[in-house]
Amino acid sequence: MNILVVGGGGREHALVWKICQSPLVERVYCTPGNPGIGQMAENVPLAVDDLPGLLAFATARDIDLTVVGPELPLSLGIVDLFEEHGLKIFGARRNAALIEASKAFSKDLMKKYQVPTAAYEVFTEVEPAIAFIDRLGAPIVVKADGLAAGKGVIVAQTRDEAVTAVTDMLSGNAFGAAGSRVVVEEFLRGEEASFLAFTDGRNIIPLASAQDHKAVFDGDTGPNTGGMGAYSPAPVVTPAIHDQVMAEIMQRTVDGMAAEGRPYRGVLYAGLMIDGTSVKTLEFNARFGDPECQPLLMRLKSDIVPVLMAVSEGDLSGISLEWHDQAAVCVVMASAGYPGDYRKGDTIHGLDQAGALEDLFVFHAGTSLDQGRIVTSGGRVLGVTALGPTVRAAIDRAYRGVAAISWKGVHFRTDIGKKAMDRE
Ligand code: AMP
Ligand code: GLY
Repeated sequence: MNILVVGGGGREHALVWKICQSPLVERVYCTPGNPGIGQMAENVPLAVDDLPGLLAFATARDIDLTVVGPELPLSLGIVDLFEEHGLKIFGARRNAALIEASKAFSKDLMKKYQVPTAAYEVFTEVEPAIAFIDRLGAPIVVKADGLAAGKGVIVAQTRDEAVTAVTDMLSGNAFGAAGSRVVVEEFLRGEEASFLAFTDGRNIIPLASAQDHKAVFDGDTGPNTGGMGAYSPAPVVTPAIHDQVMAEIMQRTVDGMAAEGRPYRGVLYAGLMIDGTSVKTLEFNARFGDPECQPLLMRLKSDIVPVLMAVSEGDLSGISLEWHDQAAVCVVMASAGYPGDYRKGDTIHGLDQAGALEDLFVFHAGTSLDQGRIVTSGGRVLGVTALGPTVRAAIDRAYRGVAAISWKGVHFRTDIGKKAMDRE
């Protein structure tokens, strides 16, 4: 089988790494890929939003299955386009990917189908938004409706911060068209978790639990990022919480999407806020989480290719997933300045030493090749991911890998997995 993976970050490196282990697979291509991916698959210089180019490539190279990593091509309709041409592709169709591409849509869907979520309203005008902010009081959360690369959410500690956020978004200064509608919602307390499931639109197969670390600095301080590290399993997702999430969040959402005429196929990712026995949905994503994908796929024992194929064919009924008992921890190493403007082009040292460690894999995210050297080229550069018999052991091993790697200005959190350790 020939497989094409669309994307070029840490998530896609993990997908390619896992897909390459399948005995069903002959050739794996990745567009655009990255230097780490290039060590195990063929990188092809096509952008993730070049839908005609990707279609032409998949047709010319007899691709049997395309697997889409990021949200942008999904929201542009890559799945619809490939299916119209009779090609198999894993991912949500455009009308289903709206669950991530529009926060107003996903909040309205949750309300209609009784999926637990924060109280909210949607606004296109500043004045009524301010009146709502005054009614709920701070802290309060302001979200740009559209895709904003994980940066469209302001958790406002004061009324003034919230008013500034809605004003900036609605007047078009911040996030452009993505901010022409805003969701203002109740602030939720608790501990976050990422809950992912494969679905064919009817059957739902949950992945193992995971937890991301969104804030840039230790102790969940500083601005939010795409994610500074993740681990699996996440003990905050107890068996009781798991059952509650499946019944009240995943099942209702998948059924609701089907009832709306937007059957959801692919991987559905719910961002959760858990407080005791209460679980609420912060958001949905129409894709694997990045970096959650890295520890999850290191723990997945089953061949992923038949699962992705079954989803793309719309029938998950014969499929089940097996997981390694070990825990996995991924520590993201980032460029100086990230999540703001960051340095690029610094030579990365120590990749070979880290790569020689057992039960550890260094996934590339923002790297590129410069005259044979691997250099930094993105905000999140590497995801050092390790397995261990306990979360604590996996943390120790991951940080041994991190310690072997360096470049000018590198930064990373030193407390990835601490919340799980506190519960172990
Ligand atoms: P979202 O993209 O909607 O998941 O929001 C990004 C991050 O903002 C989340 O991971 C949370 O850390 C935070 N956040 C979003 N909504 C809320 C809320 N209602 N209450 C508290 N924190 C929130
Ligand atoms: N790590 C969070 C996300 O992928 O959205």
